Parts: sequence; C-alpha cells; structure tokens
Amino acid sequence: MGNARKVYVRTFGCQMNVYDSERMTEALSAQGYAETETLDDADLVILNTCHIREKAAEKVYSDLGRIRQVKDARAEVGSDTVIAVVGCVAQAEGAEIVRRAPAVDLVVGPQSYHRLGELIARTRAENRALVETQFPEEEKFNHLPQRAPSRGVTAFLTVQEGCDKFCTFCVVPYTRGMEYSRAVVEVEKEARALVAGGVREVTLLGQNVNGYHGEGPDRRTYSLADLVRHLSGIEGLERLRYTTSHPRDMDDDLIAAHGNEPKLMPYLHLPFQSGADRILAAMNRKHTAAEYSSLVARIRAAQPDLALSTDIIVGFPGETDAEFQATLDLYSQIGFAAAYSFKYSPRPGTPAEKMDQQVPEDVKAERLARLQKLVEQQQQAFAAGCVGRTLPVLFERPGRRPGQLIGRSPYLQSVYAEAPAEMLGRIVPVEISGFGPNSLNGVIRPE
Ligand code: 5AD
Ligand code: SF4
Repeated sequence: MGNARKVYVRTFGCQMNVYDSERMTEALSAQGYAETETLDDADLVILNTCHIREKAAEKVYSDLGRIRQVKDARAEVGSDTVIAVVGCVAQAEGAEIVRRAPAVDLVVGPQSYHRLGELIARTRAENRALVETQFPEEEKFNHLPQRAPSRGVTAFLTVQEGCDKFCTFCVVPYTRGMEYSRAVVEVEKEARALVAGGVREVTLLGQNVNGYHGEGPDRRTYSLADLVRHLSGIEGLERLRYTTSHPRDMDDDLIAAHGNEPKLMPYLHLPFQSGADRILAAMNRKHTAAEYSSLVARIRAAQPDLALSTDIIVGFPGETDAEFQATLDLYSQIGFAAAYSFKYSPRPGTPAEKMDQQVPEDVKAERLARLQKLVEQQQQAFAAGCVGRTLPVLFERPGRRPGQLIGRSPYLQSVYAEAPAEMLGRIVPVEISGFGPNSLNGVIRPE
C-alpha cells in the first residue's frame, strides 16, 4: 500500500514557504508518497500557508471548503484523505483552524514539519485532529533527509529563519519565531548536494537574511558576507543571491562583497516600506529615509551595476497624503528595477493593529494604484535600458514555443531566446533585443 500514496501540496506566500514545501515533499517522498498535481487523487493534502496579510490567510479557508468536498466525495468511494494545514497560518491560529474547518486533520507550524510523517500516522491511528505548534527544541533541518536531486537549475536554500526586529506591522516574529542561523557546514552540505543535482544558482533565504550569524567551520561566527565567500568556493555553483535583507544589517563587508564577489549577482532586494520618517519610526524600522538613500549610495558605489528591488506598505495607520507622497518621492529618487507593494493589513497580535487612525480602504487602494503605476514605469524603463546589452543568461527551462528557452538575467528578469536544449543549465551571452511586460527577449551570441 505504502508506495501508492499521493500527496498534493499547495503553497502560499513567500519563497521560504516554497523552500519548505520542497523539503516536505522530499521527506514524504522518502516515506513513499508520490507528488500529484490533481487534488482528487490525493491521499494527503498539504496547504502551506501564509499569514503575512489578511487576504493570504483567508484564502486558506476558502480553499479548505473546496478540499472538504473532495474529501467527502473520496470517502464515499472508500478512500480516506488527510488534510494538513502547515506554515504560518497554522502557527498563528493553531486549534482555531480545526474549529473553523473540522475536515482538517493536522495543524503543523513551520518549525515542526519534519514530524509530518509521524503526525500523519498518529492522526490516522487515533482518528482525531492533531495540532503541533510548539517551537520544538530540536532543529527540523537535522531531521530532514538530504536534498534530493533538484528539478531545476536554480534553488532556494534557507540559511536563517525568524526575526527579532519586531516591525510593528509584521507577524513574522510570532509565526517563524526568534532569529536563528544554520551552521555554515550544514548550509555548505546542502549547497553541494544541490549543485551535484544540477543546480547552478542558489538564493540564500532568511526573513532577515543579512542578519545571518552562523557558526563557522572554525567555530568563529560567520556573517552573511563570510557565508557568501565560503559558498563561492563551491565548484559548479555559478551564482548566488540572497533575500530578504533589512537595511540596518547591510554591513560594510556585505556591501564590499557586491563589488568583489563575482558569483554574487548584482541584484538586491532591500525593503524600505515607507519614505516618511514619522511612519518609519511608527513601524519601528530604526532608519530614516535619508539613511536608506545614503545606504543605497554606498552599495552602488561598491557595485554601480546593481538592480534594486524593494517592499513598500501603503496606508500604514496615520499615513497622511504628504507622507504617502514622501514614499513616491523616495521611490523616484532611488530608482528600482522592481517592487512589491501592499496595502497595510492589520494583523492580530501586532502593535500596529491597535494604533489609532487606521487608513480607510479606499484611500489605501488609491495610493496603491498610484504607487504601482510608478513601479511599472520604472520597471519598463529598467527593461528598456537592457536592450542592446549582452547579458549572461542562465537557461532554466524550455520556453512556450519550440526551440525556445527561458533563462534568468543577472537582474532576475526572465529572458526568452531561441537556443538548443543542451544550453539548459548553462550561462550563455544573450544580446537583448526587446522586452515585454515581465520579460526580456534576445539572441544568443557566440561565447
Ligand atoms: N500589511 C501589509 N504588508 C505587510 N508586509 C508585512 N506585513 C504586512 C502587513 N501587515 C509586507 C512588507 C514585507 C513584505 C514581505 O510584506 O512590505 O516586507
Ligand atoms: Fe508569509 Fe511571512 Fe510566513 Fe513567509 S514567513 S509565509 S511571508 S507570514
């Protein structure tokens, strides 16, 4: 019976959830579960959830309604289905999930998913729902199987988790726990396994990744810059990226690495959240708009050829029109290749939720639309600036049309080009000839 079981995984939220879903799927595959893309076939359904904004969290419940119907239909033909809600909503809401959606069998927080196999067996044997949301003493990474050969040439690798910054809008300190860094040897082992499986580009992940301070092979504490230099020594690993950074933790060494570590890609995601100092203070960001600008100037001095992206929240409690304008101004002044912008969403248990002067929904929507127009303009301008340049493109997968491959530019743009399939996994010079809303296209150049 064992190897006939099928698991269906749906992932919400950030890249760390994507990573966690991969690790879970690999662990379950070692226990005989095959992955399926079809909900109706699944003996085990996993929703890996995100709590960062209300919309993401509520989506889980609408999905659970539909999944319950599938579970009922399967029960009628004698198949049982285990439904597991994992990730950040699981951590934040715990047993409440089973109360709102009684079809759920397992609720498992993001630090406990290494125990999924055992919890599935227990919920089956005991025929009752189980909730596992303690932050366990043991480290999940030590209880997961070594990475399976990857399905692609790019991969995520979690090196740091949790956050002690306590921005007043954010649930992460409550859902992911306190800041924690994996040891360098562990990270290196995982990176080598990924590279052996065909990966050429690794993105190091952490909620506050540049706060990384892991134990080094020599017992010394390694910073993120140290870690990047260390991993750069891995043969076959061609490109490194990291996300997400906090401006406060961009130290001189990391800034210098952008100038002198050739494997570190010229792309940096550096959230500024707001351009108004009063709002930044209320958010507990611990920097001003001017400090952010001068930080960017220092990073650009080290690496002038740098694409920047950022996160922005509009409509934080008390944000005035003038303060929103300051956000637009900072955005225009700095110049970004990309940005993720959000309407402020009050989150349970965070300080900002209880602040006065919550901004009305229509004002938030109007500000978001204005900001997104600016983001779009700058993104197009950045893409237009690439036309005529020859960029090294890492080919990742076949394109939509036959004979076409899709790759990644150093600046994380998708690039389409006519190229033979044997170029998959290789970095090839591509002369950029045009661009669309979300991609570039070009012609491969002889090396
Ligand atoms: N409301 C809206 N956006 C939020 N973010 C985090 N918390 C909230 C919230 N309560 C955004 C921030 C963060 C990104 C991951 O999500 O911009 O950088
Ligand atoms: Fe969402 Fe944050 Fe959890 Fe990622 S860590 S899934 S962004 S709440």
